[in-house]
Amino acid sequence: MSMNVNINSPNVKYTDSHIEAKYSYQTTSVHRDGNKVTVTPHTTEMTFRTERQVPRLGVMLVGWGGNNGTTVTAAVLANKLGLTWRTKTGEKKANYYGSLLQASTVCIGSGLEGEVNVPFRDLLPMVHPNNIVFDGWDISAKDLGSAMERAEVLDWSLQEQLRPYMSCLKPRPSIYIPEFIAANQESRADNVLTGTMVEQVEQIRADIRDFRQSSGVDKVIVLWTANTERFCDIVPGVNDTAKNLLAAIQVGAEVSPSTLFAVASILEGCAYINGSPQNTFVPGAVELAVQRGVFIGGDDFKSGQTKIKSVLVDFLVSAGIKPTSIVSYNHLGNNDGKNLSAPQQFRSKEISKSNVVDDMVQSNPILYQPGEKPDHCVVIKYVPCVGDSKRAMDEYTSEIMMGGINTIALHNTCEDSLLASPIILDLVILTELCQRITVQPQGEEDFQSFHSVLALLSFLCKAPLVPSGTPVVNAFFRQRASIENIMRACLGLPPQNHMLLEHKLQ
Ligand code: NAI
Repeated sequence: MSMNVNINSPNVKYTDSHIEAKYSYQTTSVHRDGNKVTVTPHTTEMTFRTERQVPRLGVMLVGWGGNNGTTVTAAVLANKLGLTWRTKTGEKKANYYGSLLQASTVCIGSGLEGEVNVPFRDLLPMVHPNNIVFDGWDISAKDLGSAMERAEVLDWSLQEQLRPYMSCLKPRPSIYIPEFIAANQESRADNVLTGTMVEQVEQIRADIRDFRQSSGVDKVIVLWTANTERFCDIVPGVNDTAKNLLAAIQVGAEVSPSTLFAVASILEGCAYINGSPQNTFVPGAVELAVQRGVFIGGDDFKSGQTKIKSVLVDFLVSAGIKPTSIVSYNHLGNNDGKNLSAPQQFRSKEISKSNVVDDMVQSNPILYQPGEKPDHCVVIKYVPCVGDSKRAMDEYTSEIMMGGINTIALHNTCEDSLLASPIILDLVILTELCQRITVQPQGEEDFQSFHSVLALLSFLCKAPLVPSGTPVVNAFFRQRASIENIMRACLGLPPQNHMLLEHKLQ
């Protein structure tokens, strides 16, 4: 099902190349003096301009031969070919469930027939996942057909149909610096680049250019879905500025593979997204992206346990209930779990998962004193038997009225890669769309792009990367509303206000 959304307003102009919308952005400035809060509303007039021409998009995955890499590639192929397959519970059909853009809707208003909901993907011109061309790198040489089998994610009868297509796809050799990922990954590393750090970065840049030319895509976005690395120390003189980072690469100082990929992508003018928790975006990498006007986004796909946390804690705190402890256990048996069984890699994940409730807690000074937080503990164990079917078990303990205790215990069987794959698609499609949106505040001559640190991707990330000094939002529905309302602004529509006044007055 697809819908053609057309805005009937003098504020919205459709030209051959653009949708141009005049928009009143309403904010407030707040002055607080003790208990006295003074709020002043402001309106800023703006023009949003969205390019209508949707490019042919190429996506290069780092870690293409992994569970996520093979699953997302296979899912897109299966959708494109309209495949169906039989399982013990009947016939299944390829779909994009779990994708915000492909499988969720936005209420655009009411008509004679009541509320009208349109697919998110139809709000603005966007790349369709079926048209994405994939390529990528992996330290493991297995072709995507064998790698899909190794992943043990998709039903066998679907794999049999996909195998001829997947087997032709071969990951390019990658940058492997053993100390960044767990030692237990070494046996996989049979497809690695050699040479100096500079030579390896040059090879990645050449790969991007080669892919762009040979596939005929208009744009390339690079996304890291390779193993979680350990955190990098932030060292003045090494990775604190763009200049120092580029110099560090010249001399082969400590720079992680994921940062090397980020640098190569940025230098090629390609957006770079980090789907894992490590601190790829050291200050020098961020500065390089800003200097070059290239989008970066991350960190760590928000797919399972953390996604629920960002809904549940938002619900509790906004309902006036006080979470006092959140304890999360995970066990998983895929290669990601094996890598995370090493302490330094687990630590990266632990950090990424730990700050997810901060904004919600800080929003409610009735429940929490300054600096007070719920106890928050995250445990991850490697249990090979459960494979990609990760189990996430959480216990939320909250204080309720008059000293009462409310406990919520939750068991979530995640099917990790099937949850992460639609998020990968949303990340690249949303990033590509943002590359076609510019905004002109009234009185200014130029149209501006979004900041290079693309905070709009927060909805899809566990530890959202935002421009320095700007607020991090983890709360699920605030993040979703931000995407929805910015898209509505591109169409000259006010934010969704849910007032339904037309039904509430006499
Ligand atoms: P995986 O272990 O199946 O795949 C990772 C792939 O990366 C492997 O094929 C490995 O050979 C390759 N690799 C490792 N280092 C590399 C390098 N330097 N260059 C190129 N390839 C390299 O793991 P999976 O399940 O696909 O997850 C990928 C990443 O996504 C992990 O870091 C995981 O923590 C992260 N993630 C996954 C989520 C999920 O729900 N599946 C959620 C959040 C994050």
